[in-house]
Amino acid sequence: MKLFTKIFAVLAITFVTVGSSFAKEVNLYTSRHYDSDDALYQKFTDKTGIKVNVISGKGKALMERLASEGASSPADVFITVDAGNLWKVQKDGMFQSINSSMVDNIVPANLRGPNNEWVGIAKRSRVIYYNPVTVSSDEMEGLSYEDLSDPKWKGRVAIRSSGNMYNQSLVSSLIANHGVDATEAWAKDFVGNFARKPEGNDRAQIMAVANGEADIAVANSYYIGLMLSGKKGEEQQSAARKVELHFPGQNGRGAHINVSGAGLLKNAPNKGNAVKFIEFLLTDEAQSHIVNNTYEFPMREGVAPSDLIAQFGSGFKEDQTAVASYGEFNPEAVKLMDRVGWQ
Ligand SMILES: [Fe+2]
Repeated sequence: MKLFTKIFAVLAITFVTVGSSFAKEVNLYTSRHYDSDDALYQKFTDKTGIKVNVISGKGKALMERLASEGASSPADVFITVDAGNLWKVQKDGMFQSINSSMVDNIVPANLRGPNNEWVGIAKRSRVIYYNPVTVSSDEMEGLSYEDLSDPKWKGRVAIRSSGNMYNQSLVSSLIANHGVDATEAWAKDFVGNFARKPEGNDRAQIMAVANGEADIAVANSYYIGLMLSGKKGEEQQSAARKVELHFPGQNGRGAHINVSGAGLLKNAPNKGNAVKFIEFLLTDEAQSHIVNNTYEFPMREGVAPSDLIAQFGSGFKEDQTAVASYGEFNPEAVKLMDRVGWQ
């Protein structure tokens, strides 16, 4: 009787396992919550017959969910922003190698995680916005992140809090290039130049430049596209028209690059479909769809960014620092920002 139960259990598990690996579906956890994404996933389904089951939520909540579900998680693919977050999921042992030559050919090595367990699907830069009325183009010429510690910027810089992952990744990139001590000395002077106590999101920093609270602000590149598009209301649209975008570090390493990325879960029940889905996100069609809805930069060469963002120059020099280092140096970055009083 016991033996029968055992055999039956093994057969049942085998059946379920085999059954699910042939299921025409892929389970996606995503912190992106654009209506336009649903249209994109429908295109994938139309092409392949594979249904995309979407669970969306805040990145942190989804990461906690993945951790608590563990090996029994139904998730195949996790999409989120910032390499630092993807690195953390990998460090917790939740991803596996994607193993796709198509993906390797399109995504540069510095924009993929170790062992190709996650890959960038779109790029964003952390740039400097400035008010052309109070800041001359001469002052901006060649300006790098490193230059922002100069006392000439005292009381003129807006940036959000150190609790924000985008800032942590920017500081991590400086640690990767200069080490902890030099980055800490820089950060101390940089914080001394703040126009106000850090508050609000990236768009709030751009607003601060538009309304004269600060002369320059550090914020991600796609927000200006989003604001100019009018999707965030008239006030933000008219504010966005008052500022200019500057790509930092053009005479040096280049502008800081981060990614929206996708990782393949270790226990993906639909692994084959998941790889197909990640490959689809890197096709011309999907890349155009993504950049025209999020105003990010395409991962794939030959796909043009949205006009709203391309007007600021799309041929800028990109920092080639490996985005995986943002995760690696994140604990050092967080401690360093705390030590220098970056609130
Ligand atoms: Fe963002």
